[in-house]
Amino acid sequence: MLELDCVESATIAECAPAEPADVLSDAFQRDLARWNGERLRPGFPSERWQDSLARDFQMRRLEADFLATLRREIADRARTAPKDPEAFVAWFEDLKQAGPGQNDVLFPWLAEHATRDELRWFFEQEAAGEAGFDDLVAMTQVKLPNQAKLELARNYWDEMGRGNIKGMHGLMLDGLVETLKVDPLIENTVWESLALANAMTAMATSRDWAWHSVGALGAIELTAPGRSAMVAAGLRRVGLSDRERRYFDLHAVLDVKHSEAWNREALAPLVAEDPRRARAIAEGALIRLRCGERCFERYRRALWRDTSTGEGTNSAIPLLGPIRQ
Ligand SMILES: [Fe+2]
Ligand SMILES: [Fe+2]
Repeated sequence: MLELDCVESATIAECAPAEPADVLSDAFQRDLARWNGERLRPGFPSERWQDSLARDFQMRRLEADFLATLRREIADRARTAPKDPEAFVAWFEDLKQAGPGQNDVLFPWLAEHATRDELRWFFEQEAAGEAGFDDLVAMTQVKLPNQAKLELARNYWDEMGRGNIKGMHGLMLDGLVETLKVDPLIENTVWESLALANAMTAMATSRDWAWHSVGALGAIELTAPGRSAMVAAGLRRVGLSDRERRYFDLHAVLDVKHSEAWNREALAPLVAEDPRRARAIAEGALIRLRCGERCFERYRRALWRDTSTGEGTNSAIPLLGPIRQ
């Protein structure tokens, strides 16, 4: 665990990390994922609340470093986002083709060639890296302007199966976890996938990053349908039934509508009301897509056994065991 060099009398601003954290690392992302699990879990007041507050402060500081690092990666491109609402939505929609990680060759391969065990491993990574779209939307909508808030509410209601438990998207995902018999635990997951979930959680839980979160969630709706369709095709090819594939079949279609509505009802009015939000929304979207790109690169290295990078010895790779059977 990374330590902060804190003395009792230090102010928050003086309480600096003992050493700059390597935030794009296996150890840090695992720590952050565990803390996210702890802090978001419903609980009870504790006698040890001061300890937990100190831990929260330490982790939030490191999380802020993480977001700053992700932001630096995409800042130049985000600066090209127009501030006019219509032009902004066009720029945003172009990310579907030209954004980081789009049209990755991994997905046609999953559709056409991956074995059942390779698809299982891929899905296990994705399930673990899924921070819970419904909760991210719920946390992001707090105090948003009304038109955007309503759109997030409609989207959330769809996530909730419109009140029907069998239609809840999270439960559909859980169903596929059971069908494919995977264990989406932190220990089984490559750090890039944890980083994606950690980045989404960081943006959705910090009000300073609320506009970023709106952009990041919008980027998911924009880009998920194409990938979902290819994963669904792969799952069909290896014998999963319509019911078993439902999570991916559904998102291949529904997210096209979600994306159109998000851009029209949330993005355009938010930017029209305050053009400064254009840059923040753009940064959030690019951060999300860049994190996704890092995942796809890692998945390809793992699945295609490219050992030239030395990744083949990573702790997460033993998961690939079943593929060799
Ligand atoms: Fe969904
Ligand atoms: Fe959606």
